[in-house]
Amino acid sequence: DCNLTPVRVASPASNATVELADIDWDNLGFGLNPADYMFIMKCSQDENFSKGKLQRFGNIELSPSAGVLNYGQGLFEGLKAYRKHDGKILLFRPEENALRLRTGAERMCMPSPTVEQFVEAVKVTVLANRRWVPPPGKGSLYIRPLLMGSGAVLGLAPAPEYTFVIYVSPVGNYFKEGLAPINLVVETETHRATPGGTGGVKTIGNYAAVLKAQSIAKAKGYSDVLYLDSIHKRYLEEVSSCNVFVVKGNVISTPAIKGTILPGITRKSIIDVASSQGFQVEERLVTVDELLAADEVFCTGTAVVVSPVGSITYLGKRVSYGSDGVGHVSQQLYSALTSLQMGLTEDKMGWTVE
Ligand code: COI
Repeated sequence: DCNLTPVRVASPASNATVELADIDWDNLGFGLNPADYMFIMKCSQDENFSKGKLQRFGNIELSPSAGVLNYGQGLFEGLKAYRKHDGKILLFRPEENALRLRTGAERMCMPSPTVEQFVEAVKVTVLANRRWVPPPGKGSLYIRPLLMGSGAVLGLAPAPEYTFVIYVSPVGNYFKEGLAPINLVVETETHRATPGGTGGVKTIGNYAAVLKAQSIAKAKGYSDVLYLDSIHKRYLEEVSSCNVFVVKGNVISTPAIKGTILPGITRKSIIDVASSQGFQVEERLVTVDELLAADEVFCTGTAVVVSPVGSITYLGKRVSYGSDGVGHVSQQLYSALTSLQMGLTEDKMGWTVE
């Protein structure tokens, strides 16, 4: 019952700031290069989403009183499409994003698309923008679904109307370091999440809350900030935009999901890939002392993929990992995951969707 018939238009988005021909596929980085079309679907507070459509990428109109602008009632997702050598395009576990959006919507008091609607909308959007999917090995098409309270409110209450949007942009490496190791600083003043809060869902406010510490860290030359738990201030949580893993011998540990940590789809996939490769993977409380004593540290996320950590600075003390900083475990897991995502190895897990 979800009418997702693409709206065909004769020419690409006239308001796109970058033309496809101008794109330097070898130096993409993680900036916005808007593609031709975006997907939009709306519903009121007491309804279910039912009818979406493609339209040219462009600004959307909102009341100044929209719930998302006034009270932060919004969620986002992130997933990627890769182009294979045979020209086919692969998505990676899109139903996981759909399920995570539904969990987040429940927490933020919003209606959400069904898993089928979400996956179908992603497919329709990627196909409409398929000329923007980078050539094999040059990056991916980043897909950004948004769910927001678009209806007008003044008193604090759920918005009366909701809008689901998907836009896409070709992207390369997330960090300016490229695939080189990143340098993190442990944040001891502020926290990303608290028990009972919204740290475990992908609500937009979680990302606004980390911008200040991140910009201070960047001004000091760090790549990003690693957060500790807000109660004991000694257990690892996550980096502003990704999850964290600590390697010691054959054991790979990552903070357990307990409401304050985002349940990353790359995190979950790396746990399975590492286990299948014979590593002992532990999801538990991981102390900052273990971090400093690790053989190797790496981050995972859709945007960052698997990023090796070259150094951690905690209370002014810097610890570096390995001689060149690039850990063998993270390299091995990066290769295994990306080969699967790009369709270079057989997908025994059944994670990719054509
Ligand atoms: C992603 O990895 O897709 C994210 O949502 C992180 C974002 C801050 C780029």
